Parts: sequence; structure tokens; C-alpha cells
Amino acid sequence: MQSPRAYASRHLMRLAVTVTEGFRSVFGPDRIPRVALAPGRVNLIGEHTDYNDGFVLPMAVDRHIAVAFAPGEGGKLRVHATAHAETREAELAALSPPGDGSWFAYVAGVAWALREAGHALAGADLVVAGDLPVGAGLSSSAALELAVARSLCAVAQEPWDPIAMARLCQRAEHEFAGVQCGIMDQLAAAVAIEGAALLVDCRSLKLAPVPLPSTACVVVMDTGVRRALAGSAYNERRAACAAAVEALRSRAPGMHSLRDVDGALLEAGREVLDPEVFQLVQHVVAETQRPPDMAEALGAGDVGRAGRLMNDSHWSLRDLYEVSSRELDLVTRLARSHTGCRGARMTGAGFGGCAVALVDAGGAEDFVATVSHQYRRHVESAGEFFVARPSAGARIV
Ligand code: GLA
Repeated sequence: MQSPRAYASRHLMRLAVTVTEGFRSVFGPDRIPRVALAPGRVNLIGEHTDYNDGFVLPMAVDRHIAVAFAPGEGGKLRVHATAHAETREAELAALSPPGDGSWFAYVAGVAWALREAGHALAGADLVVAGDLPVGAGLSSSAALELAVARSLCAVAQEPWDPIAMARLCQRAEHEFAGVQCGIMDQLAAAVAIEGAALLVDCRSLKLAPVPLPSTACVVVMDTGVRRALAGSAYNERRAACAAAVEALRSRAPGMHSLRDVDGALLEAGREVLDPEVFQLVQHVVAETQRPPDMAEALGAGDVGRAGRLMNDSHWSLRDLYEVSSRELDLVTRLARSHTGCRGARMTGAGFGGCAVALVDAGGAEDFVATVSHQYRRHVESAGEFFVARPSAGARIV
């Protein structure tokens, strides 16, 4: 039998070949493109904490967006998306926000953000393909942004600084897609390392690798539900957190973000905040401690404790932050009823998309088969359930 690592690299090779062939059929059989890849991510714990300066624990998954790229004509950007069978083009010098709500907004946004940050840009031809489900909460947009950034930097021979590029792609998403996202997704797609999740302090951007114990593995469960309004509900939560900070400043003038709320300030919050906003703050305060706790548990091989933290996180997102959904609650409940499951929770922004489970390594195959079968009995349009292996960040292959 093939090792998971050999399987993953053959799989990636196939993706690189597919996107290269796509490039040649769109831009000409004589062209020889290079290929940039960026992974999707699953967040193990620490949800809606990144934009509150807290901790997160994402893991890049072995599903990617691939971009085949080569220098193009003059100052022109030409991009073909295989999933949409569509080619778009734009003058690099003429790009400006906002985006048009299509896939191209993410590409144009990155080129614009590079230009705004003073990077050199050169005409480029790109073809985009991938094996990452789109809109499923696995950060396909961040993967697209980072793969495009990697390509455009290579074409213009600009140096690659992963953290700076994550920030720049976050800006592209704010300005072109209108989602006021935190830094987690872009950072995971940019700096992830093979074989480990990443504990990120979103205030200092200090990173620490967190390998999974060999006894456990991570399973991604796609509910198959996509929510078009997720972006606006996300922005509302973010704005409510910012308003809570303003209100709490009446009691703690030096505070900057919900990361600064301690037990005493939380108690004071009961008096100064609306009950619904107080609930959001309760979630953020408890959730921001969970990534370091889970990292510690995984480091000690205590998979049971890690799983319990995931369950607590899910219930807090469901009851306090109110971003879960019927399907996310269902799939995590089914997951927990499997004997090999140590914990399960929704992952990403919520309202639909994917859930994640921590499962005993020996029972993973049975878990995937059983839980996906049970879930499909309730939701026919279920997406894929798969064991995710920790992958590396954006790179050229
Ligand atoms: C989305 C955002 C991230 C983060 C999560 C919730 O994925 O892009 O920045 O806020 O939601 O944790």
C-alpha cells in the first residue's frame, strides 16, 4: 500500500499536470507555464477569535488551488478559471475596488493589492484549477488569493514574504470581496508547514507548529450547504465585537480588543452590554483560550482532552455566537456518536460549510464511511467527508 505522503504527492502531481494542460489549451500548446499551489485550511479550534486579536489553530489541508502561470503581454492580466470555463482579462494599471462579485474579484484584488503595496507587476497569463471544494468553508478564496500572489510575484521577480503576502491578500478580500475577514485563512494558506497545525497568536502573528499525535487524525465533513448571506452575517458579528470593545472602554480605557477582556471586565460587561452582545463576548473570551489549551493537549498526546475542547467550542458557537446551522449541529452530533470520535465542531465562519472531527487514527476509515452514510440519510446534497493531512503553504512546484 502507498504511504499517505506518496499518495498526496502523486495527487498533487496530477493537479499540476491538469492545470498545465489547461494552460496550454487556453494560451497555446507551445507555452511552458510554471505552477503555484496554495492549500485550503481547516481550523481545529479558535473560531471568530482572529479579528479579536486572539488565538487560532488552523491546519492547511492537502486540497489545493493550482495556478499555471507565465509572463503575458504588456501590462495585461489574462486569467482562465477551469471551474467556470471562463476567461477574463484586465489592464493591471486600471484595477480598482470593489470587485464584481465573481471569482475574478479575488484575482483582480490580489493584483491591485500588490500594486498598492508598491510591488512591481508584469503582464501575466494564468489558468486556475483546484481540488478544493469552493464555498465550503475550507478557505478556497484565500487559497486562490495566495496562489495568484505567488504567481504574480514570480512573473515580476518579486521576493516572497509569506506573512506580508497573507496581509496583502486579506486586504484584497476586504476591498474586492467586501468580507471583513481576519488573518487566519490567508496566513494558513501562506505559511503552513507540512505535518503540523499552526498555533497562531493573531495579535503578534507569532506562530508555533503543533504536530498531531500519531494516534489521531483530522476528518473534514462537508455538510453540502452553502450560505450566500454568510458574508453579511460575518461582517455583522465583526462589527458587534468592535462595538463591544467601544462600550467596554468605559470600564477599561486601555483595552484594544476582546483579547484584553479578563474575568472582572467580563462581569462588568454584563452591565454595559446588550444581552446578545454580551453572549458574543462570552464566546470570544472562552474561545480564545481554547487553541493554546488544545495545542497543549495534542502535544501531550491527550486526544480526549483535545476532543472535549472541540465539543465545547461547537456548543459555544451554536449557543452564544449563533453561527452554527441545523446541518452543522446534525453532522457533529452524528460524529460524536461514533466510538472512534474524540470531538467534533463546525469550522470556519459557520452558517453552513464544513465541520471537523478528531478521530482515533485506527478508526478513521470506518468513521468516514459510517458518519457520511448516516448524514446522507438526512441531507442528500452532502459533500465529501475525508481524512485531511497537514499540508505546506503556498509554493511553486
Ligand atoms: C472566516 C474568516 C476568518 C475567521 C473565520 C472564523 O474563515 O475568513 O478570518 O474569522 O471565518 O473563525
